[in-house]
Amino acid sequence: MRVAVAGATGRIGSLTVEALELMGHETVGISRTQGIDAYTGEGLVSALGGVDALVDALSSNATDHDEVVGFFSQSTRNLLEAEQETGVQHHVLLTIVGLSRYDGNAHAAGKRAQERLVEQGPVQWSILPATQFHDFAEMVTTWTEQDGSATIAPLLVQPVAPADVADALAEIATGPPQGRCPDLAGPETQDLVDLARRTRAARGTSIRLVPTWSSGLFGVDMAGDVHLPGPGARIAPTTFDDWLAQLPDRKRAEERGHHRA
Ligand SMILES: NC(=O)c1ccc[n+]([C@@H]2O[C@H](COP(=O)([O-])OP(=O)(O)OC[C@H]3O[C@@H](n4cnc5c(N)ncnc54)[C@H](OP(=O)(O)O)[C@@H]3O)[C@@H](O)[C@H]2O)c1
Repeated sequence: MRVAVAGATGRIGSLTVEALELMGHETVGISRTQGIDAYTGEGLVSALGGVDALVDALSSNATDHDEVVGFFSQSTRNLLEAEQETGVQHHVLLTIVGLSRYDGNAHAAGKRAQERLVEQGPVQWSILPATQFHDFAEMVTTWTEQDGSATIAPLLVQPVAPADVADALAEIATGPPQGRCPDLAGPETQDLVDLARRTRAARGTSIRLVPTWSSGLFGVDMAGDVHLPGPGARIAPTTFDDWLAQLPDRKRAEERGHHRA
């Protein structure tokens, strides 16, 4: 099959391209780096010629509500229109588990808008909700890190390995449209503060973590089991410890670099 991946240079998109190619499929990458802009629509129609299915793993780092909702809405409209014009038969969207259970931040609002457009859109679809990725805890600490400390909300999560998410997306994209798929989660429930601490220790970069609900990023409406997978979830195999064990240790890498210099 010929499968397009929107966000092909991103964390999940690049692993999805790898997974599809390992399965023997042909891929078409969509990202601004590759000269195709899903937000403006530039280059989309010519890229999608002969494509059977498209995986949407786009993301935006913006934090402004209107900007994020605008990005996810406009890019989704553009993808669906281009798919309809070129005869793409299956639109696969990666989304986040539990979005209907909390208000959340601008990103959550953008993802909800994206889901609605896909569900009401002209192309047959599959939507895969995934829990937070194994590297989510570390990413969150970088948002607030200052003078050796960072605030972090004690969220209950059941994180999943990015490569397991990519494998699931590749499998779904090469099968028939499924509508809303069962939630995808990792094998263990965890506390986000503990995950952040263990990731930083594995990287060899120490930081003081301050658990709080008042950083403005995650409110108490995100406490409890709102991020946990629902009944019938698909449980991916890679544990957080498996994932941690293959992380490059930044400090050791730097020491090796100095040694060589
Ligand atoms: N982080 C989590 O824990 C989690 C959990 C569940 C679901 N998700 C969802 O997973 C999805 C993928 O996340 P990720 O972390 O893999 O994203 P990422 O690494 O930030 O990658 C984003 C991708 O989007 C591309 N992109 C951005 N703007 C574009 C534009 N205008 N046109 C074309 N391409 C554009 C980027 O490429 P260029 O910059 O080259 O354009 C890049 O390839 C997100 O939608 C997120 O909501 C995340």
